[in-house]
Amino acid sequence: KEYEYLIVSKPVKGVGLITLNRPKALNALSSPLFIELNQAAAELDADHDVGALVLTGGERAFAAGADIKEMKDKTFAEVYQTRFLENWGHLAKLRKPIIAAVSGYALGGGCELALMCDIILASPTAIFGQPEINLGVIPGGGGTQRLIRAIGKSRTMELVLTGRNFSAAEAETWGLVSCVVGEGEGEVVKEAVKMASRIASKGRLAVQAGKEAVNAAYELTLTEGLGFERQLFHGLFATKDQKEGMSAFAEKRKPTWTHS
Ligand code: HXC
Repeated sequence: KEYEYLIVSKPVKGVGLITLNRPKALNALSSPLFIELNQAAAELDADHDVGALVLTGGERAFAAGADIKEMKDKTFAEVYQTRFLENWGHLAKLRKPIIAAVSGYALGGGCELALMCDIILASPTAIFGQPEINLGVIPGGGGTQRLIRAIGKSRTMELVLTGRNFSAAEAETWGLVSCVVGEGEGEVVKEAVKMASRIASKGRLAVQAGKEAVNAAYELTLTEGLGFERQLFHGLFATKDQKEGMSAFAEKRKPTWTHS
């Protein structure tokens, strides 16, 4: 399928790769781009040949934020009535894991887009930030809520209120990104695809349950979360993949997942 603002591919078996492709605007996230992104992500999420997704941008920018020129003249009535940005959240509701591979600017909505993904890998060139305060607004795509859960209150407050950028190294120290990859063009995408391929080689039901259980920790108390995790764990004993996985271990062979 052809998109105007995206390139969608399957670089290796089991992996769907979405590349934001609006380089002249540093991948500014316009509404038409986001409609395409939601569509592409939903299609890959439903695609039986895909076990994990990677979302990336370009070398210079993952995404420099929501499209400021598009937002500039909008009124309160307009954004409120049309629930502007509400559809951004779809990306955080995918069943399959999605890895953000970030090079260059990930600012404002670009940073929030990365935060909606399950894992963030960064190039040493990655520059994150929530500069909305400099535009007279605040993050509107989950920045205040997801950052605080990822890096704590004091840092989040500082970043949201000063609007200062932060580096890949800071993001790694704070635990926002799972690792900073080596230097070199395309390196971060290569690593993300490798990681996605590894995830895609597992049983899909267990992967889906693992993602669901980890994400539930954002919403639930510890007691509720432990109960939820145990229910999913118990439920997996109804799958062929559990029988296969444990039999294969006992028989000293590799499991063959049927995702059933
Ligand atoms: C629209 C953008 C844009 C954006 C860059 N461009 N970011 N257009 N919306 N967010 C456009 C520029 O206007 C310019 O277009 C082209 O991309 C290249 O950008 P330059 O500024 O010339 O590049 P450079 O000097 O290298 O500076 C890079 C930059 C800067 C530091 C990233 O572009 C910048 O500060 N961008 C805005 C970052 C930002 O404030 N993001 C938060 C947005 S608010 P022309 O046509 O002039 O060549 C937001 C709210 C989210 O995201 C709320 C809900 C999700």
